[in-house]
Amino acid sequence: MPNTLSEYQSLRAWHIPKGVTSSTAMIREAKGARLIDFDGRELIDFAGGIGVMNVGHGNSKVVAAIKEQAEKLTHTCFAVALYEPYIDLAVKLNALTPGDFHKMTMFVNSGAEAVENAVKIARYATGRPAIVALDGCFHGRTLLTMTLTSKVKPYKFRFGPFAPEVYHMPCPNCYRCPFGKTYPGCGVACADYLEEFFVANVAAEQVAAVIAEPIQGEGGFVTPPQEYFAKLQSICRRHGIVLIIDEIQSGMGRTGKLYAIEHWGVVPDMVTTAKSLGGGLPLSAVTGRAELMDAPHLGGLGGTFSGNPVACRAALAVLEVLIEDGLVARAEGLGVKARARLDALQERFELIGDVRGKGPMLAMELVTDREKKTPAADETKELVRLCYERGLMLLSCGQFGNVIRTLMPLVITDEELDRGFSILEDAFQVLTANRAAMVR
Ligand SMILES: Cc1ncc(COP(=O)(O)O)c(C=O)c1O
Repeated sequence: MPNTLSEYQSLRAWHIPKGVTSSTAMIREAKGARLIDFDGRELIDFAGGIGVMNVGHGNSKVVAAIKEQAEKLTHTCFAVALYEPYIDLAVKLNALTPGDFHKMTMFVNSGAEAVENAVKIARYATGRPAIVALDGCFHGRTLLTMTLTSKVKPYKFRFGPFAPEVYHMPCPNCYRCPFGKTYPGCGVACADYLEEFFVANVAAEQVAAVIAEPIQGEGGFVTPPQEYFAKLQSICRRHGIVLIIDEIQSGMGRTGKLYAIEHWGVVPDMVTTAKSLGGGLPLSAVTGRAELMDAPHLGGLGGTFSGNPVACRAALAVLEVLIEDGLVARAEGLGVKARARLDALQERFELIGDVRGKGPMLAMELVTDREKKTPAADETKELVRLCYERGLMLLSCGQFGNVIRTLMPLVITDEELDRGFSILEDAFQVLTANRAAMVR
């Protein structure tokens, strides 16, 4: 067995394809919002394993649930025999997901698989082939979800041909409005545009579903204006189109509400969840109106590992922590503190063009010129590196790779939060000084 980090990095390079994305960091242990790396160094976690660890690393309730279930039953395959955790969790999610109507839930393993299944169900229920997604969205890496995903490099480049009947319309990005307008004077024209889109791109009666993230995750935490989803929904309803809301990154308390779409007061027809749902175990769900969910024929949905008993039991513990233990409520306060820190950074550093998001799902977009909004992708990369060096794990995102996002576990302490933001501030200072020195 290798002994050093560099030995592991060499093995990684030789045995694992480079296409499988990874940083050079190596983590051995984690607790709450702290990571311990290979050499025993402690890092504050603002990445949460890309939004998976909302209840914190090694959450004692989740760990106990996993242990208990693993002792009892790890697998039957739901097609072979029923087991309690799958049904208990479906009942719970049906009750918690927005909407006062009969809902049903099915489980799969990854976010992409949940989106695939939501599309399958919407197509089956409507008898229509087309799906409309938003520019800048991310819905996964499988053939269909990669087709839905709207960022060419690295996600789609040379992986085509793509799945048919997927269309993209401009996204509600107020910082870089695709229509060149300004909110609120724009009247949220980006939502109304869907009607026009049906004229030039695909007939409304051919569209099974419109799919959107409440806040675009990989796309740079693009946060639509308040009226957006109600408008989108009313157009979908007019044409019998299913509205699928992808809560894979934004759900499970991330925004200070269990589901981010609650901020917009809209009740979707179908919701996909994953990431923080399983508390670190692979699990995803599609929850939706019973008449849609129950449309596909017997045997049309499923999968060998789908809704694994241990993962479902972990998710039940996650929901207990989020709701009964008040973590979602705490997230709201965390969001206020984090926002204040980011706003203060924006006042201080010219590089920060925009701060946006909801609750603790926040981001800042870095630009080298605030007027021209020139994306500062290199500076973003450097900032992530400087933070890592100083003990903060941070993630970038965005169409231009120039957005820094916060996905810290919601259990982060005030002291850890402060420390994380102080590291970020320090890194900005160094970055700004280095840039000034280069200009001189
Ligand atoms: C909004 C959204 N949808 C879908 C996915 C795909 O999830 P997975 O990587 O589990 O397939 C992601 C992953 O980042 C996501 O953020």
